Amino acid sequence: RPGSRLRDLAASRDLLFGYAALQGFYERPDGALYADIAAEEFNFVTTENSLKWDLLNPLPGKYRWAQADNLIQLAKVSRQAVHGHTLVWYTQLPGWIKRSELADRETHMREFIDRVLTRYADDVPIWDVVNEALEADGTLRHSTWYEAMGGDFIDIAFRQARLSAPDATLLYNDYDVSFAGPKSDGLIALMTSLKDAGTPVDGVGFQMHLDADFDRFDEVAATFQKMADLDLDIYITELDVSIRNGMTEAQQAVVYEEVLSLCLEQARCKAYQIWGFTDMYSWRDEFNPLIFDRRYQTKPAYAALQRRLSEN
Ligand code: G3I
Repeated sequence: RPGSRLRDLAASRDLLFGYAALQGFYERPDGALYADIAAEEFNFVTTENSLKWDLLNPLPGKYRWAQADNLIQLAKVSRQAVHGHTLVWYTQLPGWIKRSELADRETHMREFIDRVLTRYADDVPIWDVVNEALEADGTLRHSTWYEAMGGDFIDIAFRQARLSAPDATLLYNDYDVSFAGPKSDGLIALMTSLKDAGTPVDGVGFQMHLDADFDRFDEVAATFQKMADLDLDIYITELDVSIRNGMTEAQQAVVYEEVLSLCLEQARCKAYQIWGFTDMYSWRDEFNPLIFDRRYQTKPAYAALQRRLSEN
């Protein structure tokens, strides 16, 4: 990998450049190689699964912190800022929460937010507070949380998070909201109403699980600008670019680069984070969506990012 590392090029532009860390990577045979590349290339990291409710708090009152503690400790050693994913989501919930009385759910939600944020307040400055509350048609999903509190659960979650970690950056995170359509309209409506209500939300996480033939970059730029106009920061949180039938690595590189350009050209865009880095470990591994191949060699997307980060 000739030239500078991605993290250094990004840091010189004040950009957080991140990846999602595979749960327990350090226990795998290739763990040392994985850790070396992650530390060399990224100044930002999120927990792909280690902070999800079902893993962290499988039974009432019982917390298993070890996986998250380990990742956060390793991030510290690698001088990486940590992004916490994710506090209030409709899925990956333990059975005891799904079966709980409607009247108790607000208390459970507040307690979970408080336990997690209090523990990690010093180590994790940025959090996905609410994840994927919107349906494809832009209406609110009828989740475990919605059932109990209606749409107010979002405001309640953010207020609790602010109370438990006053200095943290609090995000709403979702997929398929960056390009135009009913879901993006739903995002704009939701963020407008939260801002009007004084909900302490600081930014939006755009997941951006894309395909290599994606070309709706103008729409993404417009959505980003709408968020900026609402005084919200923009975090690209889960970028990956799947190579489906007939698509190429060259197309994939273009999408990675164009999304980076959108971020560099938008003052409110604070982070560019990829959902993993090696095709070996991806939730869509059959589509080789990442910037290193399965043998940890760089792909054309890597060179494209390096070049774009070096440009003015
Ligand atoms: O940890 C258990 C393990 O104990 C068990 O033996 C094994 C058997 O299937 O499952 C393991 O849990 C899996 C977990 O990944 C860790 O590998 C879950 O079944 C599996 O559902 C889970 O998938 C994750 C998925 O979210 C659901 O939580 C993916 O790795 C993760 O990449 C994906 O990430 C999501 C974001 O959180 C939100 N946005 C979309 C994104 C992609 O779906």
